[in-house]
Amino acid sequence: MNSISVFAPATVANISCGYDVLGCCLNGVGDQMNVHRSSSKNVTITKIEGAKLPFEAHKNVASVAVMAMLEQLNDPSIGIDIEIFKKIKSGSGIGSSAASSAGAVWAVNELLNRPFTANQLVQFAMEGERIASGSAHADNVAPALLGGFTLVRSYSPLDVIKLHTPPDLYFTVIHPQIEVKTEDSRRILKPSLPLKNAVTQWGNLGGFISGLYTEDYDLISRSLSDIVIEPLRAILIPKFKEVQQIALENGALGAGISGSGPSIFALSKGKATAEKVAKGMRQIYKETSIGFDVHITSVNSAGVTCI
Ligand code: HSE
Repeated sequence: MNSISVFAPATVANISCGYDVLGCCLNGVGDQMNVHRSSSKNVTITKIEGAKLPFEAHKNVASVAVMAMLEQLNDPSIGIDIEIFKKIKSGSGIGSSAASSAGAVWAVNELLNRPFTANQLVQFAMEGERIASGSAHADNVAPALLGGFTLVRSYSPLDVIKLHTPPDLYFTVIHPQIEVKTEDSRRILKPSLPLKNAVTQWGNLGGFISGLYTEDYDLISRSLSDIVIEPLRAILIPKFKEVQQIALENGALGAGISGSGPSIFALSKGKATAEKVAKGMRQIYKETSIGFDVHITSVNSAGVTCI
């Protein structure tokens, strides 16, 4: 096989209680990438549609991630051409850079007859995140590569776990058309937190994961709280509190900032509730002059796939 086309999915990171460790892969929202073996012995970005992104290999997250992978293989004869068709906007909070990095390394791994497992690919895709935001976090690239909900149990050494998904969970995601750079929204965070807040947050993270495995939607709901990151970042997102409030009033299990924002996610039991939540979110944003998209999606348990 010398060419492959892949769907590179959007992801929701943090999921309120799991800053930098928890993430989930979305169905139906994502980019397309065409990846080819070439005789050039280089990694080249040959086409970008749908976004203004750099063509220089050392600046584009997709090529940076692939170069990290090829370096590990230590085979200088491999050349790769990458075409990117972006649907996920940069700075949207639903893993735009992660989709490009994850999609590229997954595709190249297929072309090379799978020298790496999906878990091993996470480390390479993280290099794309490093140049996109200044930090090699894995909570978007891991769910994009493994599908479903994932937990980064440890960064050093990297230990990523795919979690169980209850059947009835639906995401509603509203994406206000403003850009929030991950780098900026990380810079406003505090480097330390009071011990009692850490206790609350790790209690909720444990509760959320237990709720996924026991399919206990009420426990999931009680655990969807963020007292560490959300209070600092909410100011970056117009109408955040109102959207969160209306999501809860319409029956969502919980709602919070998607990744580093500005997208806001809600989790609901059942599609009908997720649709009601979407209606409420739209109502709030229609009162503003800000354009927006709303996605209602189930959990994508496959991650990046061949199309
Ligand atoms: N965990 C990262 C953050 C996700 O919140 O900065 C960025 O998409």
